[in-house]
Amino acid sequence: AGNKTFTMIKPDAVEAGNIGAITKMIQEAGFGIVSMKLTKLSKERAGQFYAVHQERPFYNDLCNYMSSGPIVAMILEKDNAVEDFRKLIGATNPAEAAEGTIRKLFATSIEANAVHGSDSDENAEIEGNFFFSSLEKF
Ligand code: CMP
Repeated sequence: AGNKTFTMIKPDAVEAGNIGAITKMIQEAGFGIVSMKLTKLSKERAGQFYAVHQERPFYNDLCNYMSSGPIVAMILEKDNAVEDFRKLIGATNPAEAAEGTIRKLFATSIEANAVHGSDSDENAEIEGNFFFSSLEKF
């Protein structure tokens, strides 16, 4: 048990064959997988997911990139899930990410940064519901 966070393994990491390695790190760090699916976002749905960033200069590129290939969406469970997961993934920019973090190991740029992690409990709930129905949340 514990509280929840939401993550996506992004198109760059899926394309590079890193689904297994990243999922293994997540589980070894003590997160339980509540829900998991391989899916693909349309550009429009990527835009909805990242609507909070719509005024940022990187928004259009981000929507193109996030709809460029399959992603893996997961709801994760652990005590202190949101904060602990952000520590596990490291800084948004892999150049600034700490050694041993998922982004340090697998990200290639500030955009193609391998994984997403929710920034609050409320957003974890909203983002999980964006991908999973109540029947898919165990
Ligand atoms: P994520 O944590 O999923 O949230 C927003 C995403 O926008 C971010 O990861 C990156 O993939 C992307 N992005 C691209 N450029 C930037 C930037 N300059 N600052 C923050 N996020 C960026």
